[in-house]
Amino acid sequence: MLKAKLRSTQARLGVIGLGYVGLPLSVEFARAGFDVTGIDTDAGKVDRLKAGESYIRDVPSEWLREVIEQGRFRATTDFSVLSEIDSVDICVPTPLRKTKDPDISFVSAAVDEIVKYLHEQMLVILDSTTYPGTTDEVILPRLEQTGLPVGEDFYLAFSPERVDPGNPEWTTKNIPKVVGGVTSNCTEHAVVLYEQTLGPVVPVSSTKVAESVKLLENTFRSVNIGLVNEIALMSDRMGIDVWEVIDAAATKPFGFMRFYPGPGLGGHCIPIDPFYLSWKARETGFEARFIELAGQVNTSMPHYVVSKVIDALNEQLKPVRKSKILMLGVAYKENIDDVRESPALDIMKFLEEKGALVSYSDPHVASLAEAGLDMRSRELTPEYLKGQDCIVITAAHTAYDYQAIVDSGVPIVDTRNALRDFEADNITKL
Ligand SMILES: NC(=O)c1ccc[n+]([C@@H]2O[C@H](COP(=O)([O-])OP(=O)(O)OC[C@H]3O[C@@H](n4cnc5c(N)ncnc54)[C@H](O)[C@@H]3O)[C@@H](O)[C@H]2O)c1
Repeated sequence: MLKAKLRSTQARLGVIGLGYVGLPLSVEFARAGFDVTGIDTDAGKVDRLKAGESYIRDVPSEWLREVIEQGRFRATTDFSVLSEIDSVDICVPTPLRKTKDPDISFVSAAVDEIVKYLHEQMLVILDSTTYPGTTDEVILPRLEQTGLPVGEDFYLAFSPERVDPGNPEWTTKNIPKVVGGVTSNCTEHAVVLYEQTLGPVVPVSSTKVAESVKLLENTFRSVNIGLVNEIALMSDRMGIDVWEVIDAAATKPFGFMRFYPGPGLGGHCIPIDPFYLSWKARETGFEARFIELAGQVNTSMPHYVVSKVIDALNEQLKPVRKSKILMLGVAYKENIDDVRESPALDIMKFLEEKGALVSYSDPHVASLAEAGLDMRSRELTPEYLKGQDCIVITAAHTAYDYQAIVDSGVPIVDTRNALRDFEADNITKL
């Protein structure tokens, strides 16, 4: 019965958590013809969505307004709508605690609300990244407390979100969607839902496999970035241009995949997710050494960038104290506005601790209020650039006028190889 509703897009869908993952998913569901209700505890976000204003770059406000006008999407803070919902996706944050242990309190809070309204023929899917076992061991027992049997009266699955914000080629709509249900019937229901909207869909044998897929993907990235960061540190000692080495190695048509060094990991995924896996492995007495080592190398990178800034100042006979340092790009990567876990923030903090006068310019991040800092992006006038003692490029946004930045003559520490096409004495590469 539910399957037929899903197949005909007649099912009413809910999405809990309307952030980088949940909002694009909601809008794709609505554009595919479903009736979608997005639920978020942040009343400010809900108000903006009600006004047809998207706060996620990958979701144009026109798309949002279109589905609102067609009556296919609405946002609310009221979870009681779940009693009318046929299928709900959970897209809430899964951060780490200070101790680097998983914090699944947001998932638990969402599940607490679902339990209140769980009804027959309801599909529940967790999309938030988490450790293997969360769906079966944490969520399932709580939903079963309602007395409804899984796989018959309600369906439960895990389906990791793999979106890459700012990537125009691969989006929520066309990235293959991996799905693993608690029972085969659960998997089938989730597959039918996504087949109407996204694609292609990749069913796997269990929730644990689906949970592990996402963690393998992000651990793969973290470890390879850690490796290339270590190669960058070595190459620097040996006077070798690591960027040239990578470009030449990447001409090999097989067996090599390019990863780039940088100022450290950022965003809500790669710095965090591998520790979900190592934490769970530790429960079985297994020490995930690659994950820990990559974490150590990657978290050392902001300190390395600071040492490069100190060297650049030293060349000018300047101490860090009272030197003016301009950070170009506080987002964690190019052409996006996400500052979560951004290494630029660590670099700024370390430099300020040494007495530097730090400012930033980022066309995508007007203020750092979200990161708890009272700072606003500065305009890149020639005068402002010339007044600096050192410039650090931490996100290679395409919007920057790199010629003007180089022409300022100010020493530049380029952590992203953004100035690869420039030959100038004032550039230091990572
Ligand atoms: N950002 C990415 O690029 C990305 C990519 C793939 C997977 N993920 C994973 O997806 C999940 C969500 O990440 P995100 O980047 O969308 O986070 P986000 O912070 O952008 O959005 C999460 C939303 O959930 C809301 N929320 C928190 N608790 C809630 C609750 N109990 N009920 C309802 N709403 C609640 C927040 O207000 C916020 O709007 C995480 O597990 C993350 O690891 C993120």
